[in-house]
Amino acid sequence: MSKIYERLEKCYACFKSKINFEPDVALVLGSGLGDFADGIKTEAVLDYGDIEDFPISTVQGHKGRFVFGYVGDVKVVIMQGRVHYYEGYKMEDVVLPVRLMKMMGAKILLLTNAAGGVNKDFRAGDFMLISDHINMAPSPLIGENAEELGVRFPDMSNIYDRDLREIVRNTARDLGISLQEGVYIQLTGPNYESPAEIRMVRTLGADAVGMSTACEAVAANHAGLKTVGISCISNMACGITDKPLTHAEVQETADKAAPLFKKLITESVIRLGKAL
Ligand code: HPA
Repeated sequence: MSKIYERLEKCYACFKSKINFEPDVALVLGSGLGDFADGIKTEAVLDYGDIEDFPISTVQGHKGRFVFGYVGDVKVVIMQGRVHYYEGYKMEDVVLPVRLMKMMGAKILLLTNAAGGVNKDFRAGDFMLISDHINMAPSPLIGENAEELGVRFPDMSNIYDRDLREIVRNTARDLGISLQEGVYIQLTGPNYESPAEIRMVRTLGADAVGMSTACEAVAANHAGLKTVGISCISNMACGITDKPLTHAEVQETADKAAPLFKKLITESVIRLGKAL
């Protein structure tokens, strides 16, 4: 058995011994969006710290726990707080929670994040459906392949599942919520980018920039977990305005956008649940 799977089995056994719940949809909540989980019909909560061998997040504003419950009739597991590569974890740690949620039974993964707007047509407060990504951080699949999860050289031609994207697109349209669509680029962070780096990533075809998500999406695809992702454009990226960027600003815009984002996520999850 691969070392990765051995560790996952340990985490899974820990989960199983405490929680009797099989989720269908897994959600990862980005900066400012964590309290979405507080509004759902909660069945159980599991602190990351109570799972043996689980990586613990250190970023302010990120709670570290799984919340199990219902959005409408859909059984969900929500990661309230994710693990970031810039915290110093190995990529294997960063994607462990996503793999674990797959083992818990999740069939669909909805990733959210706060991101900087690279596309000049975007505005702070916009939402962007992720059509594809550019992963500039190391692949989470480097090292021994977890054969139990997926193949050594997995296809990445439909990372953000076409059908799921259509569901989210239609949901936004029906709710009257405007939704941009574009390519997300993951850099390692934790520093924000320089103006030259933002010009570079725009040239490369990115519409939004952030420090998460792509690695999780790669691991999910590897494991056969259908994925969809939405960014909240919390700020325009460096160099577009001459105002220095702060985490407080990112958090503040994400907080302001949160009620509308919650609406979009809630209805999207309900409809994604019907697609199971
Ligand atoms: N750059 C990188 N990550 C981010 C940004 C940004 O401008 N905003 C929110 N996350």
